[in-house]
Amino acid sequence: MYTSFDDTTLDKIVRLLKSHQSEFLSGEKLSKSLGLSRAAVWKSIKKLQSLGYKIESKQNAGYKIYPNPSLLFPWEISDGLQTDTIGGKIYYFDTIDSTQNFALELSHRPHENGSLVIAERQTQGRGRLNRRWVSPKGGIWLSILLRPNFEPSYTSLFPMLTSLALAVAIQKTLKIKTELKWPNDVTIKGDKVAGILIDASIESNKIDYLVIGVGINFKIKPSKITSQIKTGQKKYGITTLVKENQQGNPVKLVQQFLLELERYYNNVISGSISDIRKEWMKRSSTVGKNVTATTTTGIIKGKAVGIDKTGALLLSSRGKVQRVLAGDIAYKR
Ligand code: BTN
Repeated sequence: MYTSFDDTTLDKIVRLLKSHQSEFLSGEKLSKSLGLSRAAVWKSIKKLQSLGYKIESKQNAGYKIYPNPSLLFPWEISDGLQTDTIGGKIYYFDTIDSTQNFALELSHRPHENGSLVIAERQTQGRGRLNRRWVSPKGGIWLSILLRPNFEPSYTSLFPMLTSLALAVAIQKTLKIKTELKWPNDVTIKGDKVAGILIDASIESNKIDYLVIGVGINFKIKPSKITSQIKTGQKKYGITTLVKENQQGNPVKLVQQFLLELERYYNNVISGSISDIRKEWMKRSSTVGKNVTATTTTGIIKGKAVGIDKTGALLLSSRGKVQRVLAGDIAYKR
């Protein structure tokens, strides 16, 4: 595990090399500014190379780093991150069971409001409704711990807020237009590219904490995922944001997403929810469609006419408008 706050030698070397990107930085200079032996610097450079950094070393000149935007290390994400709270602390894992589980553990520690947990790969990724979430390398798998001072009914706003923040961030950084499918899927031409899972703990009529889990198929082969989903379970197509032969910067996407999320979150704190709802509806593929909603209490068929201020889906069925709080929906063809 690496974090954004441990201030490791690796982090310091990357920062120093980046600030001298157009020239070679001598081993002597590096070891002096870090207070390390030349051998220790060499060891760290080797480690960074094994982590995926391209660092050239030249005799009598020193070291030079070449940018590699595909690395999700915490020092990469915090470098240029413009948020106040979200991502204040970043925990990075190459492989973890589930970032969601780690963030849930963090909830027992003090000073973790806004903490971000991110992994390259999950072995036990969790999806909504107790489904498995296949999380190979190439995706962005992250969880955020928040301690909002809200009443419990606000919990249902978070899927809407998060999916909207993600759609906006995808559009701004990758110029890709996505749709929002109620309650919290982000799709491209109907195929799922990201999903959101919210775990909430409610205490004495107030939210104790929320863990917002986001899974983004950033640069993966959709077949890698579909092949691992049980056939009976596969109800939707899957796609990726960036194709194998394309370039894309996942760090920029994560940074922008955290910024948009914090912006919407602050809007909720200040009570301006209606704009979020309007923006969500504008990007929604659900509103206006005839849908079948599968809920814990049964199946409801009707026309999606909007979402209310709590994020519940409004279905018009047999002259009545019904609120659907949770569940899955399928569009009628
Ligand atoms: C869905 O079913 O659509 C929600 C998927 C949420 C997956 C993310 S990946 C990061 C975080 N860790 C998990 O185990 N799940 C969430």
